[in-house]
Formats: sequence, C-alpha cells, structure tokens
Amino acid sequence: MSISSRRGAEYARILATGSRRPDRVVTNDEICQVLDSSDQWIRERTGIITRRFAAPGETIVDLAVPAAQQAMERAGLAPADIDAVIVATITHMISTPSAASMVAARIGAGKAVTFDLSTACAGFSHGVSVANDMIRGGSARHVLLIGVDRMTDVIDPADRGSAMIFGDGAGAAVIGPSDTPGIGPTIWGSDADQWQALHQTQSWTDYRDERDAGGTPPWPVLTMMGPKIFRWAVWEMAPVARKALEAAEVDVADLAAFIPHQANARIIDQMAKQLKIPDHVVVARDVIDAGNTTGGSIPLAMDRVVTEGQVPSGGLALLIGFGAGLSYSAQVVELP
Ligand code: ACO
Repeated sequence: MSISSRRGAEYARILATGSRRPDRVVTNDEICQVLDSSDQWIRERTGIITRRFAAPGETIVDLAVPAAQQAMERAGLAPADIDAVIVATITHMISTPSAASMVAARIGAGKAVTFDLSTACAGFSHGVSVANDMIRGGSARHVLLIGVDRMTDVIDPADRGSAMIFGDGAGAAVIGPSDTPGIGPTIWGSDADQWQALHQTQSWTDYRDERDAGGTPPWPVLTMMGPKIFRWAVWEMAPVARKALEAAEVDVADLAAFIPHQANARIIDQMAKQLKIPDHVVVARDVIDAGNTTGGSIPLAMDRVVTEGQVPSGGLALLIGFGAGLSYSAQVVELP
C-alpha cells in the first residue's frame, strides 16, 4: 500500500505585479530633524533621496490589500482563483492571525491557504521559491505573494546606524502555472550564526516585564551592524547571485534586469560591478525614492521596472534578497 501523491503544473511564472507606495514622501531633511545626520551624508552613503512613510494607523494589511488587488486585476484573476496567500513581512504587529489571513479575508479570498514568511529582506525571494514549489508540487495553482513592511514601527528615528535607510511599502505578485520555465532554481540559505548583526533590541516579554515592574522601557526597535552587513552583502551575496545565474543556465548578458534588495545604492552598485552586469541590463534603483522597505523592496522595484516599460515583457530578471537572519535567496525569473 502506498500513498497517492499529487503533481502540479510543469512550471510556474510570475503572471503580474502590483504595488502600494504610501502617500507621504519624506525627505532627508525631514529625517534630519530628529537624526544627527545630513541630506548630503545620506545621499552619498546610501543613495536615498526620499522614502515613503505610511499614515498613522495605516497597517501592513492596509498597504498589502491594494498591491494585491492590482496584481490580481493585471493577472485577470478573481479572488476565488487564488489558492494561497503568502505575506513576507517582519512588521505584522500582532502575533496571530497571520497578515496573510487578514489580507485574504479583505480581498475576498477567504478560502485560500494563508501564511506569513519571516525572512526580512529575503522574504520576497523566499516566497517566489515557495510559490514555485507549491504550484509545481500541486498544492496550489495560483499563489498571491505580497512583500510588505511598515518599517517606521520598528526603527528608532534617532539611530544613526539605521534610521535613514528605511521606508514603508508593499509589492505583490501573482504566481501561476506555465508551460515553460518562468522561475529558475533558487539559491538560498542563511548565515544564522551571524543573526546578531541585525535584530530587535528587546523581546516583547522583556518589554512588558520591565514596564510592569514600574520601568519605562524604550519601544523595541531594530538595531543593525551596518558596516558588517554592508561587507557581507557585497562580498558574500554576489557569489550567491552568480550561482543563481549558473543554476538557471542564464548568461548575465541575457538579463533584461538586475533587481537586488534595495538596501543601499552603494551595495547595488558594488554587486552589479562584481557580477559584471552589462550596460544594457536595467539595474533597479528603487531605493533612491523608496528607501529600504524590507519585504516590499524587491516586488516594488520589480513592479516599477515592469510598469514603467523599462524592460520588455518576458525579459529575464535576476532577483536577490538578503538581510536579517542573516538570510538570503536568489533566482532568475521571467518578468510578466
Ligand atoms: N549620518 C552621518 N554620519 C554618520 C551616520 C549618519 N546617519 N552614520 C554613521 N556616520 C558616520 C560614522 O560616525 C563614521 O564617521 P567616522 O568615519 O568619522 O568614524 C562614518 O559616518 C562612516 O560610518 P559607517 O557606519 O561606516 O557608514 P557606512 O558607510 O557603512 O553607512 C549604512 C552606514 C548606511 C548603515 C551602511 O552600512 C549600510 O547600508 N549597511 C547595510 C544595511 C543593510 O543592507 N541591511 C540589511 C537589510 S535590512 C533588513 O534585513 C531588515
């Protein structure tokens, strides 16, 4: 007696993207009203000129829903067609239910499989891999993947080591079956021994206990060893990206776009240099006016290069996400 198994579509691909950028544009000068820094320093060291901040009370679910609806509309799919909703985020401010359940309910996909994925800036690329495997394994036909973060909830606006780089936003992709390969093998992993390079300053229980004992603990925020992560990103992530190209058997010259995690324009430039990205390949630089939106970073950048017509439909893009964990993932995808 053996268990009967399931097989899904031969291949999967990204069918459409969507995005939601919060309305409020925040300049470096505004950041520097609280932060001991300058517009010039932030531009030179990060490439960031502006970022967007969500409105008070505008949660990651509020950001995710319009991004998701736009992606579904562009894919020509109804909510009932969505078999699974995955939300890649680190800023869902309640432990349960998942943000994915709340998004699914709001968009009318209340019967879908729902779960969140917590790998920070690598979250979207992890999600692409999971969705690809689900579709090919037969456990879903259409997966709605959303990368979203409201980083303003978890940053200390006075921290010179992090405050200037982060922003809020959501990007979404609908991933579905395909007759031809639309998602290459994912090269992913972690350097988990280095998790302390980027972490929350205090646990929620320690915060509560300190407050209950009569203390006034500061709100837990992210703290980051910026230069250490910078070096890790530049030296360790380019080889990961190269492996993703090799695994997909795609030459760097055949790419239409390079869409790395949008953390710092200097990291993007260094990676592009090491990978010898040719001039005709579009290098996503969403970071300039979006900052680092963590889970939202890659899908927002992808949505922009696609909707602004910077790349042809069906062109190949190399994605690489990296960040807290430390975690990373990369793959080549066919753009919608
Ligand atoms: N404003 C002005 N000066 C500053 C600031 C600031 N905000 N921060 C540091 N400086 C000064 C330092 O004091 C130092 O001065 P010194 O040379 O006189 O000693 C100098 O500027 C250089 O400081 P560094 O910390 O080396 O600055 P660096 O160029 O590394 O930039 C940054 C800092 C922007 C944080 C960079 O390291 C970075 O982008 N790191 C990677 C971030 C990242 O990728 N994170 C992972 C993803 S996020 C996630 O997963 C949630």
